[in-house]
Amino acid sequence: MTTAIGIHDLSLATTHYVLEHAALAEAQGTDGAKYRSGIGQEAMSIPALDEDIVTLAASAAAPILARHGRAEPSTVLLATESGVDQSKSAGLYLHSLLDLPRCTRMVELKQACYAATAALQFAVGLVARDPAQQILVIATDIARYDLDTPAEATQGAGAVAFLVAADPAIAALDPVSGLYSDDVNDFWRPNYRGTPIVDGKLSVHAYLTATEHAFAHYRSGGGRDLDRFAAFCYHQPFTEMAYKAHRHLLESQGEVATREALAEKLAPTTHYNRVIGNSYTASLYLALASVLDHGGDLTGKPVAMLSYGSGAVAEFFSAVPVPGYRRQLRTTDNRQTIDARKPVGYHRYRELYHAYSALGKGGDRTLPVETGAPFRLAAIDGHQRIYEAR
Ligand code: CAA
Repeated sequence: MTTAIGIHDLSLATTHYVLEHAALAEAQGTDGAKYRSGIGQEAMSIPALDEDIVTLAASAAAPILARHGRAEPSTVLLATESGVDQSKSAGLYLHSLLDLPRCTRMVELKQACYAATAALQFAVGLVARDPAQQILVIATDIARYDLDTPAEATQGAGAVAFLVAADPAIAALDPVSGLYSDDVNDFWRPNYRGTPIVDGKLSVHAYLTATEHAFAHYRSGGGRDLDRFAAFCYHQPFTEMAYKAHRHLLESQGEVATREALAEKLAPTTHYNRVIGNSYTASLYLALASVLDHGGDLTGKPVAMLSYGSGAVAEFFSAVPVPGYRRQLRTTDNRQTIDARKPVGYHRYRELYHAYSALGKGGDRTLPVETGAPFRLAAIDGHQRIYEAR
């Protein structure tokens, strides 16, 4: 019998601040129901000035290393859309922040929101070659759009770290994957821009098309039928996107999708994304964390995963929670991490947004202590990012 490979541990992190969508709607003169039920969002995580994708990644990964040991991961695969350097892997900052051994392979992966799923599959390949290896995958992103655009309400930030190993303690991955790629300009960010260019309606359409094709490829490879899944984790740029995608998928298979039927399979997957907002690469894995924490006993019950990254790549795959998986979860810590965020009002949010944009333009800065997280960006000095652990 081949050994199962999958997710052995999983931990999440988010930012110091949170902006409620009700506050955003009031300041914009928008009906709050558009955000609450139209896109399915209640709040979005907002970074303090001394937070970035590196500090989020370190905060997500530290509990995993504390539980399993710093020496365990032979490779760290960091996936992000919002990297801090065009050459150096953000993971290398983690190397010193988390005191990782020198004999570690570190690399950063990019394909919009999809890259963490590529990282997961690469990790599975490494473990298949040597089942003694454990691979740390970190999905970390800060989603920022231009202010006063329709996309502004779909910002957010977060990181999910997970350990990929043989004989996993949380969920075994099924070997079948359904793939889809297409060259489409629905969302992209040229090197000279701090925010993406996005065609919102095209991006929704591209996501739906990709979902249908990735599932068809998954089925053609021997994957399970839709009625075999206990839950469906979708990439959630906003949580209503999961409902749109699942309705589209069911209808493409000739099935009728009532709101109740959709909610039964999707609602447990949306608890974290609904209050964190889009976290690009991390979003799908926040959906997984949410269903593991809120979906009842899923032991032996397949969970579908749909990864989408604009541009566009999609992958449909599945995982099966293993006996005893609930003992490995960090449900209380996850809730505390989210509840610990400090609310900001609309004006402070705008100030933070502009200060963050200015920081991205270069120049030396010492940053005042703002975040309560265990890792922070202390300064930018001579084009070098200086981090500190507390
Ligand atoms: N009460 C209740 N619902 C309301 C409402 C009200 N008062 N007013 C509007 N709504 C509903 C609308 O009917 C609509 O629902 P449907 O989609 O079911 O028709 C929903 O709220 C959104 O309203 P609009 O269509 O008017 O939305 P918008 O023009 O403000 O833009 C958006 C929505 C295109 C998603 C925009 O937020 C955006 O561009 N976001 C960024 C791109 C994005 O997230 N794309 C998702 C797919 S791409 C991807 O997944 C990759 C990624 O992470 C970026």
